[in-house]
Amino acid sequence: MIIAIAAIKGGVGKTTVTFCLAATLVHMGKKVLCIDLDHQGDLSSAMGAERDASEPDIGQILYAPKREQADLMAQGIIDVQGWCHLITPGMDLGGYQTEIEKGLSSESRLKDALAQFNSVYENYDYVLLDTPKGEGLFTKNALVACDEVLVPVQTEYFALKNIPELLNLVSQIADRANPDLRVSTLVPNRMKATSLHKSIHQQIIDWDVRTHLLHQSEESWTAPPIRDLTVYSELSAQGESLYSYGSVKEEHREPFVAIAEHLETLRNQANTREVETVG
Ligand SMILES: Nc1ncnc2c1ncn2[C@@H]1O[C@H](COP(=O)(O)OP(=O)(O)O)[C@@H](O)[C@H]1O
Ligand SMILES: [Mg+2]
Repeated sequence: MIIAIAAIKGGVGKTTVTFCLAATLVHMGKKVLCIDLDHQGDLSSAMGAERDASEPDIGQILYAPKREQADLMAQGIIDVQGWCHLITPGMDLGGYQTEIEKGLSSESRLKDALAQFNSVYENYDYVLLDTPKGEGLFTKNALVACDEVLVPVQTEYFALKNIPELLNLVSQIADRANPDLRVSTLVPNRMKATSLHKSIHQQIIDWDVRTHLLHQSEESWTAPPIRDLTVYSELSAQGESLYSYGSVKEEHREPFVAIAEHLETLRNQANTREVETVG
């Protein structure tokens, strides 16, 4: 299952959620490939990957002719921290963006690459796509390529302001390129114990994405809130994961375990649908 972690807004926790969710899924015995689509490379840094490594990066993979993409992707996967597989954005994703936008099918490059790289479906239970802020080329590529969208929402004033923008983009992509695209999961992040945070948390729970997504039949699921705690920001600085860092307590992992279990339910439903269709 391919999941885009997207929000349009920057600094809401897309990378933190991707990093912690990847660790949790791996801890549960799942095979996970992360693709860092942000030129800032925060996910790659958090995972301790070298940005200027010799392996093909996602810019090269998306720019390459279709027939070469699968091989490049296989070569571009690096093993990080001994527990996760990652493709980095490289040093010049912005330069590749300009070139890719001059060519054809610029928004479906990632979908094409993943579709040809059969090992994605054979070797990985989950592909997590960490997206940059904004509605640019790589956010669109992630939304065209994925099955599900997971949206981190910061529980602060104005937090919900950008959600309609994201849902509008999802709706357009569902209309043109990816009819089964679903916003299945909302993740309240940086929750504090104030009445403002509680009221915004309630607004997230009450938010019905279907008022913006006419093609989507199921309501999205809201994860238990992730609290605003330094332990989450320390992980990347310390080069540790949610399952290796000594300061992490069980309760810090709980929201991610709940998200992982929710995704497993969706994945099992999708697999059942596939078997029924084939049968
Ligand atoms: N729940 C949290 N508690 C404390 N700090 C957090 C939390 N979530 C994210 N952060 C911090 O907020 C900043 C932005 O988070 P990040 O995941 O990089 O957002 P994005 O990828 O959406 O830009 C980072 O410094 C990160 O460590
Ligand atoms: Mg990020």
